[in-house]
Amino acid sequence: MTSGYAKWDKIYHEYPLKSLGWELGRARPILIEFVKKGLIKKGKMLDICCGAGTNSVYLAKNSFSVYAADISPKAIQYAKETARREKVKINLLLQSFINLSFSNEIFDFVFDMGCFHHVQIPDRAAFIKGIRLVLKKNGIYMITCFSHKNGSSWNHFTKIQLKQMFSGYFKFIKIRHYSSIEGDGIKRFFYTVLLKK
Ligand SMILES: C[S@@+](CC[C@H](N)C(=O)[O-])C[C@H]1O[C@@H](n2cnc3c(N)ncnc32)[C@H](O)[C@@H]1O
Repeated sequence: MTSGYAKWDKIYHEYPLKSLGWELGRARPILIEFVKKGLIKKGKMLDICCGAGTNSVYLAKNSFSVYAADISPKAIQYAKETARREKVKINLLLQSFINLSFSNEIFDFVFDMGCFHHVQIPDRAAFIKGIRLVLKKNGIYMITCFSHKNGSSWNHFTKIQLKQMFSGYFKFIKIRHYSSIEGDGIKRFFYTVLLKK
């Protein structure tokens, strides 16, 4: 594993949740939309890089059986507090996406909000294979990542790049490009992609 991931726990310790760009304090509107439209079948799901658990809580309240993993002990602590406050059961796990400890083919759905775009380039192939492995046949992987419209960067992707990275492993069901005013008040551009194993 590359060492660039240790910074995350420091970030959660050093900054209040409300100041973090990705922390909207409520579930992602696109997740709510896709669940309401029935694009994601309810079942056993993994929130990969769950952060403070906002999306996990929404999914647990909507009858998903939720497993949620993050590398930051502080983020997991926040998620535990949120789950307790909201009275929902979430199976929270402190673990890195590099060595997922789940059995093969156990999840119907993997939710990834802002996780893949933080995977270091040398770890990308292993990450994608790991997600594919834990998904059941026909399982859905929903990924939201930074788009090239935020400016050029190693982890700002074009549609073509997304197709290049994922089409060897998944079928593309849906791809949407949009902007969102994030928790820090900044407008950012994202792709949300629904992939099927
Ligand atoms: C941009 S935040 C998104 C958090 C959450 N998905 C949300 O939307 O609120 C990225 C998350 O990835 C987690 N993370 C970074 N590297 C990780 C790794 N190697 N394994 C697991 N989680 C990791 C961070 O701790 C952080 O919570």
